[in-house]
Amino acid sequence: MNSNLQVYNNFVHEYTDYTLTPTEINILHRFKDNWHNTSMLDIGVGTGRTTYTFSALVMEYHGIDYSSGMVERCKQALGNRANTEITVQDATNLSKFYGRDFDFVMFSLNGIDSVEHEERIQILSEISKVISREGYFFFSTHSLYSLPFSPKLPKLNFKRPLSSLYYWLKALKRLLRTKFHYRNVDTEAVLRNDKYTLVTGDHDFQMAIYHIKPAHQVTQLEDLGFEICTVYSQQGEVVDPKSYTGSGYMYFLCRPRQIAT
Ligand SMILES: C[S@@+](CC[C@H](N)C(=O)[O-])C[C@H]1O[C@@H](n2cnc3c(N)ncnc32)[C@H](O)[C@@H]1O
Repeated sequence: MNSNLQVYNNFVHEYTDYTLTPTEINILHRFKDNWHNTSMLDIGVGTGRTTYTFSALVMEYHGIDYSSGMVERCKQALGNRANTEITVQDATNLSKFYGRDFDFVMFSLNGIDSVEHEERIQILSEISKVISREGYFFFSTHSLYSLPFSPKLPKLNFKRPLSSLYYWLKALKRLLRTKFHYRNVDTEAVLRNDKYTLVTGDHDFQMAIYHIKPAHQVTQLEDLGFEICTVYSQQGEVVDPKSYTGSGYMYFLCRPRQIAT
């Protein structure tokens, strides 16, 4: 299997959607009075889906990504805004930002799941070094309860028969490949773990993606000095991560643990 970085470099052309998810829009509203004063570090920007909106709102925007292909495309599209800097940088090393005290740090669309456990811990630890004490960190991550995977087939639309048949066949191919890929996997054994790396089918089954139980994500963040503010399901409902067993991905809004005065 290719390294995930290599896969991202090969799949830059698939990142053409610049819309925010409903939960990201929710976060935009939640902090609507602050954006004009916010210094933001956006990690794993890809081709700039979140750059498009956030760099237009915040005072200072730094976007990083470890894929040079992604950064090149992002800079072409959005790199000329005066408050915006976009650079190739692996999030496991944020030393160039030490002392910056960002108000808002984001790692969107499960980008943090692209790395192995040790690197994930390293990234979270690096974020804790560059975020302001009053700042927020917002990211999404895959729930381990997504297993067993059951990709859905879209409904056929008889008003647009050809395109809808194309997407239906594509989804059927993914479903069959997923079933084949997981034919010998003992789901119960995997679910006895707190975290596990799985192949989801994204990017032609070439990517290894970290999955974590929601309650364990809480422990992982707390061990690194964060406190949890709100957790949302993939559909945008507020959930209790200690008891949540939903599939898909979930969004965590957290911040450095506040010291009682
Ligand atoms: C699923 S894509 C999401 C891209 C973009 N945020 C979006 O929402 O469209 C994840 C991105 O994270 C980047 N990424 C993964 N691990 C990274 C790391 N250790 N440091 C910096 N970027 C990373 C990848 O190169 C990729 O562009």
